[in-house]
Amino acid sequence: MNGKTPIILDVDPGHDDATAIMLACGSEKLDLLAVTTVAGNVPLEKTTRNTLKILSLIGRPDIPVSAGASAPLERPLHTAENVHGESGLDGPYIPEATFAADERSATELLADTIESSPEPVVLVPVGPLTNIALFLRERPDLKEDISRIVLMGGSVGLGNTTPAAEFNIYVDPEAAREVFASNLPITMCGLDVTHKAGAGPEERKRLRSLGEVGGIVAEFVEFFALTYEKIYGFDAPPLHDPVAVASIIEPGILQTRPMHVAVECGSDLTRGETVCDLHGVMKKKPNAEVGVGLDRERFFELLYDSLERL
Ligand code: RIB
Ligand code: CA
Repeated sequence: MNGKTPIILDVDPGHDDATAIMLACGSEKLDLLAVTTVAGNVPLEKTTRNTLKILSLIGRPDIPVSAGASAPLERPLHTAENVHGESGLDGPYIPEATFAADERSATELLADTIESSPEPVVLVPVGPLTNIALFLRERPDLKEDISRIVLMGGSVGLGNTTPAAEFNIYVDPEAAREVFASNLPITMCGLDVTHKAGAGPEERKRLRSLGEVGGIVAEFVEFFALTYEKIYGFDAPPLHDPVAVASIIEPGILQTRPMHVAVECGSDLTRGETVCDLHGVMKKKPNAEVGVGLDRERFFELLYDSLERL
């Protein structure tokens, strides 16, 4: 018990996942116990390789990493090399990892880590929810040792992969449906709040001033900005995944509202849509605290402070 919040990250690096890992490791308020990887932005082999490289770069080979699902529960994998490049972390040179992935499966690492934690653990999935759904299927007994799930995914409004769906939920809607039906406390950091965390030229300039790690994050964002400019026409790519981590470091930066969230799995047109009942018109019990506002300035201050500490 060191007064820090114990968390486990589930990631698909991806530039913003990589930044979320750095934010978690640099924070004095969080204890990153373990990381599990999932196929998403790029295939599993690459998301795992990228995770090991990032933790090696920041001198944290002590944090165990286990590879999880290589495909969604029921659908073929849909990836995002158009956003993150072939490697999933195109842009700056990152040396090869100095340690290997843990032999255990993602479910085994999640179970062992949760069971050995003296206090309930916060799960922080920032990729498709496949690993989390599989874990909850296999170890429902450990739900009582999970304090909450803080996820990056979904949107009250429009999507970013289709007009209706955000990428993480689009890739594995069935997994997301199971997680939202888990009755665990969920905080959903969707596009409505992550789009307020765009890192433009000013933010990139400040990141470069933070030393080696800040400089690498600035290069991540420069790459991300190129692809974002091409696809969406603006050059301040949102730091989606770090928003989820920052909301645990300082909950006050995120304004949320309790809502019932349902996930569309049937329609080809709107598959992966998080149907968020903002006004409670369906009279269903809310199953998530959904992000509706972000203190952008404070978010970036938290990010800069953490990166400077690495
Ligand atoms: O839609 C944004 C999400 O999809 C982020 O988690 C990004 O890393 C990708 O996984
Ligand atoms: Ca991600």
